[in-house]
Amino acid sequence: MRRSSDPGDSLVGLGTRLSRIHPYPAMVPDELALSLVSRFVPPNASVLDPFCGSGRLLAAATAASLRVGIDTNPLAWLLTQAKFAKADPRRIRAIIAGINLAKDRCPEPVFLVGPTDRKVRWFSKLVIEELSRIVQWLNSLDLSKSESLLVAAALSATVRDVSFAREQGWKLHRLDAKSRRNFKPSPWERLAKRLTYCLGELSKKSSSPRGRTFVKIGDSRTLARSGESPVARYGPFDVVLTSPPYGDSRSTVQYGAASSLCLSVVSHLNGFDHLRASGGSIDSGCLGGATAHRKPWFSLKPYWSGADQSPHAASISKFLSDYDAVCDGLVDHLSPDGKAIFVVARRSTGGYRLKLDEFTVDCFLRRGFILLSREERPLSHKRTPRLINRFGRDATRRGSASALVPTMNSEIVVVMARSSVLEAQATFCMR
Ligand SMILES: C[S@@+](CC[C@H](N)C(=O)[O-])C[C@H]1O[C@@H](n2cnc3c(N)ncnc32)[C@H](O)[C@@H]1O
Repeated sequence: MRRSSDPGDSLVGLGTRLSRIHPYPAMVPDELALSLVSRFVPPNASVLDPFCGSGRLLAAATAASLRVGIDTNPLAWLLTQAKFAKADPRRIRAIIAGINLAKDRCPEPVFLVGPTDRKVRWFSKLVIEELSRIVQWLNSLDLSKSESLLVAAALSATVRDVSFAREQGWKLHRLDAKSRRNFKPSPWERLAKRLTYCLGELSKKSSSPRGRTFVKIGDSRTLARSGESPVARYGPFDVVLTSPPYGDSRSTVQYGAASSLCLSVVSHLNGFDHLRASGGSIDSGCLGGATAHRKPWFSLKPYWSGADQSPHAASISKFLSDYDAVCDGLVDHLSPDGKAIFVVARRSTGGYRLKLDEFTVDCFLRRGFILLSREERPLSHKRTPRLINRFGRDATRRGSASALVPTMNSEIVVVMARSSVLEAQATFCMR
């Protein structure tokens, strides 16, 4: 496999629009998103991301004429929508200014926000009361749709900041008892900080996106059933640019748990009650979750070397089968000379790497595509630990020698196009 000669390092430090509005698991690095867009997304192209997550790839495609994102996680919908919200910076400045007054004057909350269905306490009593006051205050403001989206995304990030969740954790784990006792965050201050960041981004003229953007909460496995496809009416697309999950949600990043914690508060904002979702329901909508398991065309061996009887084999097979269903649908949503660009990785499962790049290529090859390029890009700016234990905690320096799992050290970009187009081009050149 070719090592990337342009890993996007020249773009390090440049951000996509509102890139740091909210932490989200497995975000594509900004410099990679920008580099892929500059290489593969011509101005005025239409772009589909069927696993849009926090929307970074779509946010990088500022010159596209049409961007469509799908994600099963309602939090992903919120973050991607917020990134394209054309809010007036003066209004956001006024909201920030209002926080100081509201902080002291806001009346007792009439209802309390937060998760009601969890055994673990994620917020202190004081934080729940303050978050409830914030929600009541925000609901009393006359906000436009764009302002509401930005405010909701900033509130969601605030919720994560003031919860007992470990800050650097990419799985939802609680601070230990001592840290919890000393943890006295102010939700009002965090919200002001988050909104001040948004204000700074909105004031940058350069990052304003052109064209139209549509984001859907939906299951990309249904793309193949065209009648149900939420994006059938926007396609066909010039480019599919995406970074799919690298494994099922329960055993990898657990999108559901962390997202539902934030949504349990945000869904109390006016107009956002459709975002309420349990962690379990989000995870089961993810690849490898509750699935209409089809008889797979593949055997696991070329992609994963573990034993067929291993407890991991069945879940990997389910995940890949779902993954294949998405590729099936994507093929029908691409224009005849469209390109599919996937950012994937080989994550370790049961002691063996799952070769998702090879699986992706095979899914497209058997549907009449060819591989244009495959590049490996080292994760040199990675913040997450290189080695973790089974609780998803950093195990680089300490921890037991058993059950340690190496995390990803590189990402792989595969680019595919229909073979018929290239054959036609070759015939034309030979004439
Ligand atoms: C690797 S993340 C995408 C990250 C994104 N590119 C970013 O930079 O933020 C994969 C996403 O796929 C979504 N996902 C998983 N299964 C899905 C499905 N069946 N349909 C739609 N989205 C799904 C997850 O919710 C997650 O947001």
